[in-house]
Amino acid sequence: MEKRKSFYITTPIYYPSDNLHIGHAYTTVAADCMARFKRMQGYDVFYLTGTDEHGQKIERAAREKGMEPIEYIDGIVANIKKLWQTLLISNTDFIRTTEPRQKEVVQKIFNRVYEQGDIILSEYEGWYCSPCETFFTERQLAEGKCPDCGRDVEMLKEESYFFKMSKYAPRLLEHIENNPDFIQPESRRNEVVNFIKSGLEDLCVSRTTFQWGIPVPFNQLHVVYVWFDALINYLTGVGYLQDDELFSRYWPADVHLMAKDIIRFHAIIWPIMLMALDLPLPKKVMAHGWIMLEGGKMSKSKGNVIDPSILVDKYGVDAVRYYLIKELSFGQDGIYSEEILVSRINSDLANDLGNLISRTAAMIIRYFQGTIPAAESSTDLDLQIKEAAQLAFSEATEKLEKLDFSNYLHATSRLVSRANKYIDETAPWQLAKDPAHTERLATVMYNLIETIRIVLILTAPAMPTLMTRANQQLGLWEDCTKVTWDEAGIWGATRSGTNISKGAALFPRVDIKTLEEGPSGATVQAETTTANEAPACEQTTEPEYISIEDFARLDLRVAEVIACEKMKKADKLLILTLKVGEEERTVVSGIAQHYTPEEMVGKKVVLLANLKPTKLRGVMSHGMILAASDDKYVDVLTVTKDIASGERVK
Ligand code: MSP
Repeated sequence: MEKRKSFYITTPIYYPSDNLHIGHAYTTVAADCMARFKRMQGYDVFYLTGTDEHGQKIERAAREKGMEPIEYIDGIVANIKKLWQTLLISNTDFIRTTEPRQKEVVQKIFNRVYEQGDIILSEYEGWYCSPCETFFTERQLAEGKCPDCGRDVEMLKEESYFFKMSKYAPRLLEHIENNPDFIQPESRRNEVVNFIKSGLEDLCVSRTTFQWGIPVPFNQLHVVYVWFDALINYLTGVGYLQDDELFSRYWPADVHLMAKDIIRFHAIIWPIMLMALDLPLPKKVMAHGWIMLEGGKMSKSKGNVIDPSILVDKYGVDAVRYYLIKELSFGQDGIYSEEILVSRINSDLANDLGNLISRTAAMIIRYFQGTIPAAESSTDLDLQIKEAAQLAFSEATEKLEKLDFSNYLHATSRLVSRANKYIDETAPWQLAKDPAHTERLATVMYNLIETIRIVLILTAPAMPTLMTRANQQLGLWEDCTKVTWDEAGIWGATRSGTNISKGAALFPRVDIKTLEEGPSGATVQAETTTANEAPACEQTTEPEYISIEDFARLDLRVAEVIACEKMKKADKLLILTLKVGEEERTVVSGIAQHYTPEEMVGKKVVLLANLKPTKLRGVMSHGMILAASDDKYVDVLTVTKDIASGERVK
């Protein structure tokens, strides 16, 4: 039998000094999405995650609780494993650096590198804070004092082992130059190259000031530096020096995924350690951005960390994973907010995707007694939806290969929007009125189901339970676990004649009002209406028309922007001062990422003037300006002729 191609992906091993938060969950979910994608492509995947359990900080955290380090860590590691189960992480193994397999490999590696002369015994000189038991360089000090506790420091010398990194710097630079994909994104690669070029110092790889670590094998006074120990997990995890068959199958790793905080460890120290061991380097080291909160970074000390398991309880695992994967643009930081999470659920998942499936299912039930009809004929519109599906397949594949997670889901969202538009364009409820159009109606239904099949495959790496849940209604597959990625690249694979049935809403809408009214972290209740009862389902026959009187209730006015400024501490908001006839109004608008204040001043925009005033970040907003938008652009609607402000738009 031909051997399947392998794919080895890792996350950082996290410090179990405390429970993990949504930032750690981001990396682990993104890596999981990649692992699932590769498995669907037929790869033999090894996905490794775990915990980095040694070092002074962990030792101290345990002692503060009056516990032995291992006793303290065991509890947190159990929570971490539970969190990964909750998030449906499909890791192959979970490595703990306190396991015997890690100790054995770390000691063997330390020995070998020492024996070949790349580790030497020397003296470490630096500023020492004795209460913190930590050395600092001159630059790290805060006004001459310990940067952690603010107390006095003293100049001390400590005997230490040093890893001669500088010797390998030219080889590493050459490798980075010859392999442009090795460090991603490009901004990080430049940062790393500049750092290496500024001169690498030898690295202190042992400590004598505490005991919680792996002992240096030939000198028990020293423990191995926690990063030297931790990085080796990537080798131990796939059997280095212990299981040659396993190791040769998976090494070198295809991707080490992490956030930008630890890129230098992975793109400088780690490759040099591997060079010293004569091992091939990982194919890619990818650093994503940080998930921040509006007030800055998440941290335990600020008491503002977000626990992902609470979000899963509230909104479901597919929705939380979807939000995380879509939220961080390639290599960039992003802001977490529960409002954005809820609006993604309501717009992308409930309105667009959930509705597409429930509308299609309801129409097939109504017009074809629940049996998927065959496509009979083809028009331009049909060709367009087919092309949109093929484009989504190629884009989703390409973006995932590049670890551009957000754009992968943008590609699938575009297909969902296209399919909803196809319903409006083909107006099946009109076709159903005349038996002469039955063939046409059948084709439309088939094309919709076919698009849904493709969407379900493409979103499966991000949302692991959706395909199975939808399949209970649609009956597209006998065994969802056997569905391959490439099936999404084929148009026409759905068998007609299959029976579908009604089921519960796949993504219940979340009542945003509950979120707004409640205190922060308020429990948001999901409406549990089923697909049959959902108001959206009424659209399965005809769109919900409004009368001209209904439209007249909207007081739309021409308004001139006479002043504009950015809202402080809010990336997305502009505060506009509008002249509407004789009146001046303040309107807050979420367009700051698309327009500068200068660009807005002087524009004549369209204002919804009788929208109930609302407070946004402490500023009262009296109305809303109109804009067209898609995944890429936001375009504020403007009036181009010389029409006075205050005039009605109708
Ligand atoms: N133990 C080291 C890693 C050793 S790997 C050989 C470590 N652990 S950590 O617990 O601090 O985890 C850091 C990693 O957690 C980041 O690189 C990132 O993958 C993830 N994140 C932690 N907070 C994060 C955000 N706020 N946003 C995105 N990722 C975050 O460093």
